[in-house]
Amino acid sequence: MAKSAPRFVCQSCGAAFPKWAGRCEACDAWNSIVEEHAEVRPGPAGKASGRPLGFVPLAGSAEPPPRTPTGIAELDRVLGGGLVPASAVLVGGDPGIGKSTLLLQAAAKLAATGRPVLYVTGEESIEQIRLRARRLGVANAPISLASAVNLRDIAASLEREPASLVVIDSIQTMWFDQIDSAPGTVSQVRAASFELIRLAKTRGFALVLVGHVTKDGAIAGPRVLEHMVDAVLYFEGERGHQFRILRAVKNRYGATDEIGVFEMTEQGLAEVPNPSALFLAERRGNIAGSAVFAGLEGSRPVLVEVQALLAPNPPGSAPRRSVIGWDGGRLAMLLAVLETRSGLRLSGSDVYLNVAGGLRITEPAADLAVAAALVSASTDQPTSAGMVYFGEVGLSGEIRQVAQADARLKEAAKLGFDGACLPRRVARGGRALAAPDGLGLHEIGHLSDLVARFGKSGP
Ligand code: TYD
Ligand code: MG
Repeated sequence: MAKSAPRFVCQSCGAAFPKWAGRCEACDAWNSIVEEHAEVRPGPAGKASGRPLGFVPLAGSAEPPPRTPTGIAELDRVLGGGLVPASAVLVGGDPGIGKSTLLLQAAAKLAATGRPVLYVTGEESIEQIRLRARRLGVANAPISLASAVNLRDIAASLEREPASLVVIDSIQTMWFDQIDSAPGTVSQVRAASFELIRLAKTRGFALVLVGHVTKDGAIAGPRVLEHMVDAVLYFEGERGHQFRILRAVKNRYGATDEIGVFEMTEQGLAEVPNPSALFLAERRGNIAGSAVFAGLEGSRPVLVEVQALLAPNPPGSAPRRSVIGWDGGRLAMLLAVLETRSGLRLSGSDVYLNVAGGLRITEPAADLAVAAALVSASTDQPTSAGMVYFGEVGLSGEIRQVAQADARLKEAAKLGFDGACLPRRVARGGRALAAPDGLGLHEIGHLSDLVARFGKSGP
């Protein structure tokens, strides 16, 4: 009884349109719209077809979902404590970033606890997976492997096989024979995910879907996939660096600001329990234009180096502002505030800002560290090697309070820093912020105080 209605879907963002167009109105991608045949079942929607819902009162017992820790602490932190049974997680990232490596390691850890784990690969052969497992030192882990892309076969197996965790690597290779388009297209990915997620919910296993990411950061093909799953984790990293950051961008069962830090080694991904040491490892003291930011990623303090470089701007051309790891709009604001409120001349210079090590900072608390790096570059005076900075800068140049100052200071003291530039302390609940042993606190009320520090004996 099904008839086919034409529908046009953007392969890049998943938006649907009644007519074909050369450019997608939703995401501006060119030539991304393809025709899709949707099944339409005629029949009255409102009459006699549904079963009435059994509503329950809001008040009632509510248990937090049970968790199965994977045993990889950095992964468990990002998941919010571990995998949740009957849930679906999407792990996205560039090809080659280490998604399969991470999941094979997690699968092996979980399997070693006696839980049944199924790993379905649509990209690699069984031999390739075995070679990777050998390299990772988990060749004998009791994981059940299958190389398959046909969703009907996979679904039939998942209906039968007991499983605590099912990994599908990758969702873009899965193929549902009922849908008349190639694997990796929006309709295929959506249909395959829908079926797999349905199985996860009914059979009670944790489902992990691997997805490749396009250049613009969207999970290739369907953004829609992000709405279907319970959690979306992105695995990021710079090509030239060996460390990788796992970040939750959506999590129905946990916080989304936690990160997991890993290092890619010859034997797979190693956890980095102390990321500050790693991010600061290559820092060289006594160079103008560098300042250490005492940041916070989720519940964890992380120290990173902010680097600024000023170069004379060729006459007649617009000054360049180039930013890696921070927000360009925020940099523009900070430059304007520095010029207007503290008299620093920066508009004639090209400005390059870099968060060393490839971390992406989103906290406004980084303002003061960025300002310190800029002032240091502009005055050609290095910041003190033992100093960390944090504080938000307001439009009038005032330095504002930021969350969890004590956690930031503790991390700085732990890593051997001896000073911190921070906003004026205000007593909270009658108790002013105390400095950990060995750490001198320098309160900065206004950007001009910061600039003045560089004029004197040193920052
Ligand atoms: P992989 O997990 O295959 O990436 P993805 O599934 O995201 O496409 O990892 C690929 C890269 O990782 C590859 O370039 C080799 C490197 N690698 C190591 O450096 N050490 C290892 O132990 C492994 C397994 C891979
Ligand atoms: Mg892979």
